[in-house]
Amino acid sequence: MARFTQASIERVKESTDIVEVVSAYTDLRRAGQRFTGLCPFHDERSPSFSVNATEKLYHCFGCGVGGDVFKFVEEKEGLAFGEAVEALAERYGVEVEREEEDPRAEERRKQRARLGELLERTSAFYAQFLWEAVEAGKAREYLAGRGLAEEVLKEFGVGYAPSAWDTILKRGQSAGYSIAELYDAGLLVKNKQGNAYDRFRKRIIFPIRDARGRVQGFGARAMTPDQKPKYLNSPEGELYRKSRTLYAIERARPAIAKSERAVVVEGYTDVLALHQAGITETVAVMGTAITPEQVQLLAAHTEEVVLALDADSAGREAMLRAQRVAAGKRVRLRVAAMKAGEDPADTLAGKGPGSDAADEFRALVEKADDLPVFHVRMLLSDADLSSPAGRDRALDEVVPVLSAMPESITREELEREVASKLEADPGLVRRRVAGHRQAPAQPPKRAEIVEGDPGPEDGGDAAPPAQPTRPLSARERRERSLLQMAIAMPSDGVDLLERLTPAHLSSGEMIRARDWLVAHLEAPLDGIPHDDEAFVALVTQLVMDSEREPASRGAMELNLLWLERAMVEAELGEATANGGDPPVELQKRHGELSEQIASFDPER
Ligand code: CTP
Ligand code: MN
Repeated sequence: MARFTQASIERVKESTDIVEVVSAYTDLRRAGQRFTGLCPFHDERSPSFSVNATEKLYHCFGCGVGGDVFKFVEEKEGLAFGEAVEALAERYGVEVEREEEDPRAEERRKQRARLGELLERTSAFYAQFLWEAVEAGKAREYLAGRGLAEEVLKEFGVGYAPSAWDTILKRGQSAGYSIAELYDAGLLVKNKQGNAYDRFRKRIIFPIRDARGRVQGFGARAMTPDQKPKYLNSPEGELYRKSRTLYAIERARPAIAKSERAVVVEGYTDVLALHQAGITETVAVMGTAITPEQVQLLAAHTEEVVLALDADSAGREAMLRAQRVAAGKRVRLRVAAMKAGEDPADTLAGKGPGSDAADEFRALVEKADDLPVFHVRMLLSDADLSSPAGRDRALDEVVPVLSAMPESITREELEREVASKLEADPGLVRRRVAGHRQAPAQPPKRAEIVEGDPGPEDGGDAAPPAQPTRPLSARERRERSLLQMAIAMPSDGVDLLERLTPAHLSSGEMIRARDWLVAHLEAPLDGIPHDDEAFVALVTQLVMDSEREPASRGAMELNLLWLERAMVEAELGEATANGGDPPVELQKRHGELSEQIASFDPER
């Protein structure tokens, strides 16, 4: 089998949570920046085993073993290197690529390294141009006017792209790169006649780096309002994928480890302003809603993520998406309430560490609300509270969010807050929340169950996603229950799922969920293709519900028998639909299954 690409291996490592991996073998406690515990490789009474979560390394000061997270998995699970990579890739939902087996693989690796070098050189050129070119004077003034000092701009390698059409084209070629290479690196575009020219012109350049500090691409900001678009980015491709990149992760990593949280903002200028103000655990999602890959990347470094996104409606939407994306992951999402229309870049413009503005921002981060709390308050503040009907609608909206929260003092206080805002009896709110799971309060709106688009108005953004709005059939309940238990007990579950065939399942969505789970049972939400929201919602719901019911091998076996019988019944139904006699074989099978179900002993 061909080897995994180096880039793949690094992505797997990046997404892996070594603390979680090791914790399956020994209990770890945080000790400053490291984690320690009893060594899982030798017998000991006092902990001499140490794990570095950021570098993904382990070491035992007692017996001397040590290595990276792949080595750990190799040793503990008796796997070869490639198998360990594969296991972690699967567990953390990272797509891996293999080198092509032909000799061109080597060629491709070299080529990628060349493009990487080209990006570094270009980045350095833009940075130098910003500080030295007369033409860049306006850009320097503009940045200074935004309160960004030379120091922070240089730290982030901010640059300026000249206005000429061919600066990079010429420089790149004289450095020995072909037009095709410059194009592949995303530095050129082609016009209709096929002539290539510089992609970035007359723009402020923000180099975007991966966690190891290597340039992946650029974000380029317009200098004037008439220049469109406001931000022009490197094209999506092998080198740069926005959805799995966090701006400034390479600079924020140490601070994230130290402060044990990450602050997530929208854009480049927000990051720069915050780092300048000393809040260096900050990264940016670059305008879009946070993606599963980004959450995973953060989850590998910290358990707490504070979203400091604009409070405008797009920002709110992004926060609620984040809630869905993070469901089932080990991260706690909080929201720092920003004033509407104000981003950190404006609030902190020109402010250094220890300034009032920096302290205020820090305080906002410290007292950030948990995302569900924020969500409920947002729903209340948007609601029409002037009539009982409006307050009823608001109650309908907050109930699913509240019921998704664990029972806690936070939830109780929030329920009281809701009651008082809605001028309702607290008992009513509590009852509605408690009853939410069993009896959806809203009348059915659609024929489809969750497989349909949850729609914006029925709480589809709550975690977990919308409840089915029609009661599930017995068969649907059985199949869901089986999938949920498989998630709760992956080692037995995978067996059962493998025996579950499409004919057992009631819908295409369920078949898809089963197929996905077979391959991703350990971490069903990692790497889930997020283009299909209904599918993500279904799997998310299965994951959340998997924590509610007790699971056992016996109960799964029983459900499988039950589904098997439902399948046979469906076949019998088909066979007799046109007045035919029921096939003897099927009848016999049905009888057997009924008997097995009746005499099933879950303890056996
Ligand atoms: N963005 C992008 N492409 C666009 C618009 C925005 O990639 N066409 C990303 C950028 O990363 C940008 C972020 O979305 O930083 C937030 O967008 P916006 O709020 O419009 O920009 P700001 O960062 O606030 O830019 P500035 O402060 O310079 O106005
Ligand atoms: Mn902004």
